[in-house]
Amino acid sequence: MKDVEIFVPGRLCLFGEHSDWAGRYTLNNPDVLAGKAIVTGINLGIYANARTHDKFSIISIDESGNTVSFSCEMKLDVLKMHAKQSHFFCYACGVAAYMLEHYKIGGVSIKIDKVTLPIKKGLSSSAAICVLTARAFNELYHLHMSVNGEMNAAYRGELLTNSRCGRLDQACAYGIQPVCLEFSGDEISTEILKVGKDLFWVFADLKSKKNTKKILSDLNRSYPFPQTEQDIKVHEALGKDNHEIISKVIKALEIGDAQEIGLLMTESQRIFDEKIAPNCSSELTAPKLHFVLNDDTIKKYSYGGKGVGSQGDGTIQFIAKDLESQHKLIDYLNDKLGLNAYAFTLPSSSKVSKAIIPVAGFGTRMYPETRFVKKEFLPVVDSNGFAKPVIMYLLEEIEASGIEEIILIVGKDEIEQFQEIFKPLSEEHLSKLPQRVQDYEKLIARISSKIKYAVQEERRGFGHAVYQAKKFIGNEPALLMLGDFIYKSNLNISCTKQTLNAYRKSGGKLIVSIRETPIDDVVHYGVLFGKFDTYRKYLMNVTEMVEKPSVEYAVDNLGVKTVGNNAKYYSTFGQYVLTPDVFDYLEEDIKEHDNKKDDSEIQLTSALVKALNNKGMVGVLVDGTSYDVGIPKAYKKTISEYGK
Ligand code: UTP
Repeated sequence: MKDVEIFVPGRLCLFGEHSDWAGRYTLNNPDVLAGKAIVTGINLGIYANARTHDKFSIISIDESGNTVSFSCEMKLDVLKMHAKQSHFFCYACGVAAYMLEHYKIGGVSIKIDKVTLPIKKGLSSSAAICVLTARAFNELYHLHMSVNGEMNAAYRGELLTNSRCGRLDQACAYGIQPVCLEFSGDEISTEILKVGKDLFWVFADLKSKKNTKKILSDLNRSYPFPQTEQDIKVHEALGKDNHEIISKVIKALEIGDAQEIGLLMTESQRIFDEKIAPNCSSELTAPKLHFVLNDDTIKKYSYGGKGVGSQGDGTIQFIAKDLESQHKLIDYLNDKLGLNAYAFTLPSSSKVSKAIIPVAGFGTRMYPETRFVKKEFLPVVDSNGFAKPVIMYLLEEIEASGIEEIILIVGKDEIEQFQEIFKPLSEEHLSKLPQRVQDYEKLIARISSKIKYAVQEERRGFGHAVYQAKKFIGNEPALLMLGDFIYKSNLNISCTKQTLNAYRKSGGKLIVSIRETPIDDVVHYGVLFGKFDTYRKYLMNVTEMVEKPSVEYAVDNLGVKTVGNNAKYYSTFGQYVLTPDVFDYLEEDIKEHDNKKDDSEIQLTSALVKALNNKGMVGVLVDGTSYDVGIPKAYKKTISEYGK
């Protein structure tokens, strides 16, 4: 039986609170504008282990740190009955009931072993439990639900309880990255937002009281049709004003302009106080919130602040001027104002939108085959009996993981060949193909619209090839895949997605995918050494990387101790998320080779090692297999095993 590890963060609504339910009224009144909110998962959350089970059972820790457990039959009426009772696990039961009603599943056993999220503090701990439950079923029963699907199951599940959650709470399913959610009637669309620079948030529990039910019922009175001047103001604030603020925030996030975001926080609070708060003055006058917002010391450390969630005297948030101000602000809020404050750094662009595949190599180890056809075009038959070239396996996996731009590094004599290959087929050619292949043509067209070419003028090695993508990548992270490996995942997410997820979870660190390697094979690969994370046991905090070490060196220095004190060795798996500094180190290496008139190949590893020493590196132990097509013996194995 296989365990899955799940981390679901709490969520912080940065902007656009209340517009989720307001946007639903477009169903009744077409003049109501869609709701828009920017929400991010935070670094506090719920860590759990889950496995399949014949019952629905869950163990956790309550607010006082005591172990609490629950177990019931995996039956719809039983789960629904428990969902309606107000006990600690009613939310999880609601989601389990929803899942059972919609999917062919058995039970699960969930063990929550760490909760770093404050409960009932406007950070949606209940939504996190709901998403966690939906994700446990999704991963254990290979349901192939998207993140939106998990969000929806979490929402629908919570509706089966007596509690009422908002529709933006489940955005914690997206992890630590900001998303813009748009609510129109029953529809929700999501856009993952880019963050240009690390942004230093602080949020704090005001340790006061608020009545969210009253706030919601008082504000809902202005809908669907405004009756009074005051109602019109509420519609403006949650409609037009909110749209303006959100679009400015998206731009400011993209360039990482903390000052502008601070101004927009202050402006959005001003609009809230002027146009919305009068609807529910008993709750929304919020004296403590305003007292803290107006504190002069806080203004020294922050660019602006505002309330959180339903607003009122619940939780407050600020954007600090920098890392140091973030620490000072936390100390001030805790020590001088007696609040419970937390730091949250929104990492710069956790979204990877570009990928690089170098395909310019001569492929000498596959000669004479490569004299006629590039190894990237070699056929491999998949499990559906489709004969596809290696490059399509890579491109499909990259495109399915949400990458928007793919940079192929080609030789200067090859660019036309590639352009020709990715041109649409002629009508005559297309008409001769069966329907399922015609559908595949649409996929090829979609992928080719994302391809750009960078030329490697001279074949000076893998690292030199990667460097050619620099002008396309700019200051962003980029996924890098070798052109002569294809992958098969053991999970319901691809190997590429596992690598990209690791980037998000690491908070924007350089990522190298790794696999366990027998000691006798270390001499062929880049070998990584470090310590695995206690909770995310597949993430290694790398401290050393050595290209093709000797067996003796590896035994003495690179063995990672495991249970029973056996050493294991980990080598590169062929997928990376490069941070922009890697390109600077590649440039240094190229210059050094030029100066020394050194014509040996420029490899990637030395730049990776420099980046590791400077800012650190995370290894991700990918649950899957890589298949090599760059060596005859390996290619033979690939074609016989891949499609099985
Ligand atoms: P390899 O190390 O497999 O080199 O490249 P190669 O030239 O393709 O093959 P051999 O070693 O001669 O048999 C790893 C990846 O980097 C690309 C290759 O196309 C492959 O995807 N590469 C390598 C370049 O784009 N340019 C180069 O100068 C070298």
